[in-house]
Amino acid sequence: KQNIAIICSGGDVSGMNPALKRFVEYSFEQNLTPYFVYDGYEGLIDNNIKKADYCDVAGIINRGGTKTGSARSKRFMQKEYRTIAKQNLDNLHVTMLIVLGGDGSFKGLHEFYKEHKIKFCGIPSTIDNDISGTDYCLGVDTALNMIKFSIDSIRDTASSFKRAFVIETMGNKCGYLALVSHLTSGSELCLIPEIPYNLNDYEEKFKREIKNGRRYFIAVVAEGIKQDSAEIAKWFEEKIGIESRVNILGHLQRGGNPTVKDRLMAYKFITYAIDGLMKNKNESIICYMESGFEYKEIDAVVNTPYQLNHELIKYISS
Ligand code: F6P
Repeated sequence: KQNIAIICSGGDVSGMNPALKRFVEYSFEQNLTPYFVYDGYEGLIDNNIKKADYCDVAGIINRGGTKTGSARSKRFMQKEYRTIAKQNLDNLHVTMLIVLGGDGSFKGLHEFYKEHKIKFCGIPSTIDNDISGTDYCLGVDTALNMIKFSIDSIRDTASSFKRAFVIETMGNKCGYLALVSHLTSGSELCLIPEIPYNLNDYEEKFKREIKNGRRYFIAVVAEGIKQDSAEIAKWFEEKIGIESRVNILGHLQRGGNPTVKDRLMAYKFITYAIDGLMKNKNESIICYMESGFEYKEIDAVVNTPYQLNHELIKYISS
């Protein structure tokens, strides 16, 4: 029987708990012995690695955060600590590792692999959605829904006053959360690090809109832009002539019950990870590609019976 371990590393995401649950259940199904590494790579160094059982994952599918804890480990960036980590895995005869994490966690994993040739599979997990090669990282949908809820609530109060609200999203250096939230919450202004902007370009338009009866503005700005949210709010006051408020959404974006999408993605990511490792796909990050839109003839659509997704059927019948 082979031993397999899982680590949640870096910023936690909603979806890690459903992933842990699937990990334990699918490992047993595949005749593997599952282990949890607690507190990210820190636990790997400190030998905080324990066998996992069904009872560890009971009642967690609906919970944000991660039951195993997570950490940003500075020590793991140093070779000497990675050597200790490998020793700890060897002592427990753990030969396969699944890592849920973002960019920093994968960089650490890469070094670990280069030195110790451990079999691993990385699952992109960060609300920032900033991992190259995958269209989706676990946790993004829940974060977007938390932001949607926040902006919808702020809109209620914004529309009661004549005010501008500057709402700052997370995302590190990536504007994904802000951009998608802008598109789905109908805000008036979106500022992200990837697109250079000049606030002056909006001045005339916004003033005209106020003249035509607009009562409030919502601006969604990413944390990674060059200016502080307070500066944007000041611009609204001084140049547009409207009272303003700043809301930095902060860590509430990382919490909340995982959405259906994140629960299902967790299930699929873990299944692919374990299947891959069993088939000797030993040094990979699982990337998810969205297929995009297609134009189809109406004839083909109305004359073809609908079929439930094959992949889903496969999961239930295995
Ligand atoms: O996990 C990603 C992220 O939430 C970024 O969006 C944000 O910049 C950062 O983590 C915050 O990190 P911490 O939780 O360590 O303050």
